[in-house]
Amino acid sequence: MNQSGVTGGRTAEVSSVWNPVVDVHAHFFPRISRGEGASLGSNGPWLRDDGDGTGQMMVGGREYRPVDASLWDPDARVAGMDKHGVDVQVVSAAPLLFGYDADPAVAAPWARLVNHRAIEMCASYPDRLRPLCQVPLQDVDRACAEVDWAMSEGHVGVHIGNHVGSRNLDDPEMVRFLSHCADGGIPVFVHPWETMAGDRMSTHMLSWLVGMPAESHLAILSLVLTGAFERLPADLRICFAHGGGSFVAQLGRADNAWHRRDLVRADCPKPPSTYVERFYVDSAVFSDEALRLLVAVMGDDRILLGSDAPFLLGEERPGV
Ligand code: CO
Repeated sequence: MNQSGVTGGRTAEVSSVWNPVVDVHAHFFPRISRGEGASLGSNGPWLRDDGDGTGQMMVGGREYRPVDASLWDPDARVAGMDKHGVDVQVVSAAPLLFGYDADPAVAAPWARLVNHRAIEMCASYPDRLRPLCQVPLQDVDRACAEVDWAMSEGHVGVHIGNHVGSRNLDDPEMVRFLSHCADGGIPVFVHPWETMAGDRMSTHMLSWLVGMPAESHLAILSLVLTGAFERLPADLRICFAHGGGSFVAQLGRADNAWHRRDLVRADCPKPPSTYVERFYVDSAVFSDEALRLLVAVMGDDRILLGSDAPFLLGEERPGV
């Protein structure tokens, strides 16, 4: 362990760009019993640990996704980080745990449970694992209270979904939460979840491959075109997962529409491309060509390393 408390093994390619190598997009799913998960209803999420280094993310009685111990065991997680040259992971709960559909009176203690488990997991490696909290975003007063508590307990930011039901991030209550985060200097990481048009994307992981990039695209563009970024404090630090989804590739389309149609620019005083200086994206785009486009559009100072580890759709060697 070196002076900064970080063990080595990082790849030369990544460490030449990011030093230390901090992965801001990595998930955990804490040990949650079926009884604890049931507080969110009969389809509440919980973790089945099969005792052999593997397990299942469960939704009620149904197997949701096979997983391995790096999702909940800090020793296994850090071993994987060493293998792939990651110094620090900023970990966030699997979006399945958001609990946004629940009654706020249930969702608030649920968020507290997940946030406690995150602190416990990261405590084993305080220099390597740093937690992002989750909040009951369907109730912004409770969400503000939870993020304040979590930050006081050692969380380093907040992880939110890109929408709550039919409300995008430009919804006045969502803007109030984001403003609260800006005022408190609290970084925000936005993850797509509960993807659109599920009835047309029910096979072949289309919800992940099409729905998720579209959700991130919608989240960013809704903040831009509604003028929400004009109302939000300029010092808000907000990062979108998966390179911002399809936003970057389609930004020219939005700019063209802004110039040609008054209804596109009605609430947005500047071309959409000027707002890239208001947010960050992660690097989890999975191809050299996409990463080059991301750098060209966002600028390399707006891109944070993200892997989506340890999920199978994550990058095994982040940023490479
Ligand atoms: Co993710």
